[in-house]
Amino acid sequence: MKKRTWWLSALLGAALFTGCNKQDGGGTAGGTIKIGEFASLTGKEATFGISSHEGTLMAIEEINVAGGVLGKKLELLTEDTQSKPGEPATVVNKLVARDGVVAMLGEVASSRSLEAAPICQQNKIPMVSPSSTNPKVTQTGDYIFRVCFIDPFQGTVMANFAMRTLKAKKVAVFTDVKSDYSKGLAQFFKEQFVKGGGQVVTELDFNGGDKDFKAQLTAIKAASPDAVFVPGYYTDAALISIQAKQLGLNVPLLGGDGWESEKLTEIGKDAVEGHYFSTHYHPDVGSEKAKKFLENYRKRWNGKTPDALAACGYDSAIVLVDAIKRAGTTDGTKVRDALAATKDFDAVTGRITLSPQRDAIKSAVILQVKGGKFAYLETVSP
Ligand code: PHE
Repeated sequence: MKKRTWWLSALLGAALFTGCNKQDGGGTAGGTIKIGEFASLTGKEATFGISSHEGTLMAIEEINVAGGVLGKKLELLTEDTQSKPGEPATVVNKLVARDGVVAMLGEVASSRSLEAAPICQQNKIPMVSPSSTNPKVTQTGDYIFRVCFIDPFQGTVMANFAMRTLKAKKVAVFTDVKSDYSKGLAQFFKEQFVKGGGQVVTELDFNGGDKDFKAQLTAIKAASPDAVFVPGYYTDAALISIQAKQLGLNVPLLGGDGWESEKLTEIGKDAVEGHYFSTHYHPDVGSEKAKKFLENYRKRWNGKTPDALAACGYDSAIVLVDAIKRAGTTDGTKVRDALAATKDFDAVTGRITLSPQRDAIKSAVILQVKGGKFAYLETVSP
């Protein structure tokens, strides 16, 4: 069952020359600059990959309409990771070895970015993750970047929110031990909550994809927390919310960006109402750039409102292309150096300056599930 989705797109009227035009080396043959993208277009976290891809593709299309970069059009080669371990390495190797892409965009989920990053690093292919927040992703090496904040910040934001806004003194933490993202975010949340004088009354684990969380939720209820931190992805978070409600565990559940999907409310319905999570973007707030993005995205994708994944996907592409432009070449090392020099860049999710650790330092937003929608509560700056 090896389904591979090929989305060869974003050529938008650009002629695809089949002749040789190789002055920049690999990835520019045929008069286009080839950019790889790996995303979870199917499987458990499909909405992550689909949204992220829609944002990324739209950015590439806009750049091509405006004339491309270095006198060439961009060509986005997209591969599906199927939300599964093992696939990121396979598809990224293929994009590098077979297709000769000059740079890589992806993934959303930290565990999948962590799988692909060493391959990009070894091949000196700059990789920009749109929204993987685990610190280890960019620690892989100096060709690995991201355009989002990292989880030590996100964990702190939610711990402070629990203490200051919800006045929680006792929390439980429920972690997906299969996910690097979940484990990291749980740890950073706990550290800050305890530092602030709070108490972690119990900690329990689940495996992403589980269907029955009742045993752990019963133990959590017995510990009488004021709130429960669930740093998981949307399907698990929705099922956990439903079962918590069934068990009469009626305290706020808190999550991170992994909750962000229209599936959260579709699956969780009234059981997710009132819960809170942090993320990178909300369509109601932002700069002129964000307003324009919202308008264009709705036009491009049949009225659909963009989520954080779409905004981060868009930003990953414009930050990369800006670096290629400044580098004046698609040479991996030069593009890496240009990426590292990214400073005060006007992006949809905020102004992006990349730190010496190749991470973006940016604000987070806190949202609450209200009436089946995500209501904006506040913006927290680093
Ligand atoms: N930050 C998550 C991770 O690192 C992925 C994610 C980003 C999910 C943005 C939703 C929104 O795994």
